[in-house]
Amino acid sequence: MAIKALEVKPLAVPAGSKVNFGAAIYNCDVENLSDEDFETIRTTLYNSHVVILKNQEKLSPKAQYELTKRFDPAAENYGHGKTLDAKRSVLHPDLKTIPHQPQVQVIGNGPFEEYEGLKDIKLVHPHHKKFHKTCVPDEEDLNFTRFFRWHMDAALYALNPPKVTSLLAVQVPQGRRQTLRYDDGTGDELDVSLGTTAFVSGQKMYDLLSEEDKEFVRNAKVEYAPHPYIWMSPSKSRSTGLGMISEGLELPLSDLPPIDESQIKILPMCFKNPLTGNLALQIHPSAVKAIHLPNGEVMTDLQEVRELVYRLQRPGIAPALVYAHDWEQGDCALFNNQGVIHSVCGAFAPEEQRLFRQCNMASSEGVMGPDGKLY
Ligand SMILES: [Fe+2]
Repeated sequence: MAIKALEVKPLAVPAGSKVNFGAAIYNCDVENLSDEDFETIRTTLYNSHVVILKNQEKLSPKAQYELTKRFDPAAENYGHGKTLDAKRSVLHPDLKTIPHQPQVQVIGNGPFEEYEGLKDIKLVHPHHKKFHKTCVPDEEDLNFTRFFRWHMDAALYALNPPKVTSLLAVQVPQGRRQTLRYDDGTGDELDVSLGTTAFVSGQKMYDLLSEEDKEFVRNAKVEYAPHPYIWMSPSKSRSTGLGMISEGLELPLSDLPPIDESQIKILPMCFKNPLTGNLALQIHPSAVKAIHLPNGEVMTDLQEVRELVYRLQRPGIAPALVYAHDWEQGDCALFNNQGVIHSVCGAFAPEEQRLFRQCNMASSEGVMGPDGKLY
């Protein structure tokens, strides 16, 4: 059989969308990928941020791991390390580790008898009612949804944010669409497929800022909480999924696992794209604890910190700027985890089955700041 050349196409977006990122790649034989073809994928990823490799139904967990690792060959461990074991973490219920490929996690919804060595698993799709302060009323629940939690995939303590995440759609629920509501008084909403993954471009988020704010974010840094997903676990999210409400509910540091001060992450607000040099505003809003201001002072009032981050990020998640992917079985998304933030969405009935595989590895080096240094 003749080997077909890779075909790269822009992702389709609905009428009125202002999304200017994303590409689909056809004819990709992941298990026999030449260096030249991998370079095409890598270049597309750093130019387009979200790349969907089509028709990857047969991709093994090992091949998915190897493809993901190829973006950062020195990386080895899953992006969250072993922190998922911490029962109090907000991440704990959402992921199951594939025993023979521990960098690959299974996520989804519904019961499955057996999958890749996991027996009798019950997957639960994250529902905003478990994380948000307010929720869509029960009687509207299957027709409406929200962004669950905007984030980049990163432990944000001890480990560096992964460069690339891969997400393979093994089983996708068919047919149903939902209206995603922001419920923040703006009336903003978005029509999405059930279980979509939503992405926004950090570069666009940066480009939308005033010149004054651009200068600020180029020179400010974010200090993340130690063990952030345990720290935030009693607190609740805004209705947009873009950061937390400040009610003083975060766990005191004395209630967290032991803290090694040297492992606390203080990262630039903007990350530099290694290929294009463009800046992305790249903040994990719910894990932020303090802001290191350009003048050297540290802003520690959590409410003020969160209001500032929200003001900077909210314009970038406007409905027209969100790419909400309509998953097809066999889609393998690769995304520039240091250049987009993303959120799961969707309200599932218990019997609606969805099964995805996610893989990323803590980066072997820090993230690049606007000054070209690694943090
Ligand atoms: Fe994620």
